[in-house]
Amino acid sequence: MSKRATHTPTTHTSVMTREVVELFAPLGEGLVLDATFGRGGHARALLQQTSCRIVALDCDPEAVVYGRQEPFFQAHAARFRLEQGFFAQSAALLARQNLHSLDGILFDYGLSSPQLDDPKRGFSFQRQGPLDMRMAQSGTSAQELLERISEEELTQALRLCGERHARRIAHALFEARAQGKLPQDTLALAALVRAQSVRHARIDAATKTFMALRIAVNDELTQIAQGLEQADRLLRTGGRIVAIAFHSLEDRIVKRQFSTWAGRDATGCSRHRASLQDLPSNEKSGNHESGDQKIGDQEIGDQKIGDHEIDNQRTHPLHHRTPFRPLYRLLLRRPHRASALEVAANPRARSARLRAVEKLARANLAESSALSAKTSRAA
Ligand SMILES: C[S@@+](CC[C@H](N)C(=O)[O-])C[C@H]1O[C@@H](n2cnc3c(N)ncnc32)[C@H](O)[C@@H]1O
Repeated sequence: MSKRATHTPTTHTSVMTREVVELFAPLGEGLVLDATFGRGGHARALLQQTSCRIVALDCDPEAVVYGRQEPFFQAHAARFRLEQGFFAQSAALLARQNLHSLDGILFDYGLSSPQLDDPKRGFSFQRQGPLDMRMAQSGTSAQELLERISEEELTQALRLCGERHARRIAHALFEARAQGKLPQDTLALAALVRAQSVRHARIDAATKTFMALRIAVNDELTQIAQGLEQADRLLRTGGRIVAIAFHSLEDRIVKRQFSTWAGRDATGCSRHRASLQDLPSNEKSGNHESGDQKIGDQEIGDQKIGDHEIDNQRTHPLHHRTPFRPLYRLLLRRPHRASALEVAANPRARSARLRAVEKLARANLAESSALSAKTSRAA
């Protein structure tokens, strides 16, 4: 029997929902943008467990139809609305709703389970379907991309996703294209890729090719970078951004942007150098707590300690000459990972990394710039 015939609609199990709720709960009745609504699991939990109001976005029209028809969201219409669009354009999309300032923003990147599991969307190499892969169901499909892309571009896209046989796979696809035999569906593409690769015990040899095509078709990395820029434009001081990434390409963009905003360089050092006399006495004596997997005020307190701690251990000479005013503070020093219990219940959570920042309030900005001025005078 064809795998196409066995598809039944799936639900989506949201990742690290408790942590998302804890991070947004302090915002009271604030307005939170759920930039990746999906099946609304995070939005639902926020509506049930906090006083937040939610404006949600998803580029996939199916997700929007689902959310608007769902009785739970209809029942919460006073605190919830849902629009279709890309989060890279969120400022313009929200301006149309007369919304210009947000208290919180959630990104939960990637695909929802219903997208992945529906063969006609073409995301899965395990089910027969067209080579589509468009989250928004518009624009260039994977099939059209394969018909146009150069061999070199495809090689680069595959390498970016860590495909060891990038050149060989790209070449095989180009040979097939030259002979008018480009694969026309997901199973045919997966078979071509597997024929070029050494079998891995752990992951299917087609995994990285499908991921590379999906990322290219949806311009996912540009969307993430631009989505964060838009988030910064929309967020009020004191507001929070929470981002959940599922692979290192996504996470790297979030990590770098958050580090830059927090005044840290790529090594994690603070670019905003504090001198020893600026530190509370327990920090001078090395009495540091390290609970950076906790979320909440304790974590925020620890974060401040962590900044100075790293600072005094690894100060780069350039930092003396680069007074830098942090615009955000990291709410978590390291990304939060799903618990073993959550991973056991939802294996997709295994690779998830949650990062969170808070935009500094004006008072903190003033304090920070006073500290920077002091630091540069000292240097
Ligand atoms: C992992 S799912 C989100 C799941 C959701 N948090 C939940 O709990 O049900 C990601 C969703 O984001 C959407 N998406 C991905 N990239 C997007 C973008 N650039 N703009 C808007 N939505 C996007 C996808 O269509 C998908 O529905």
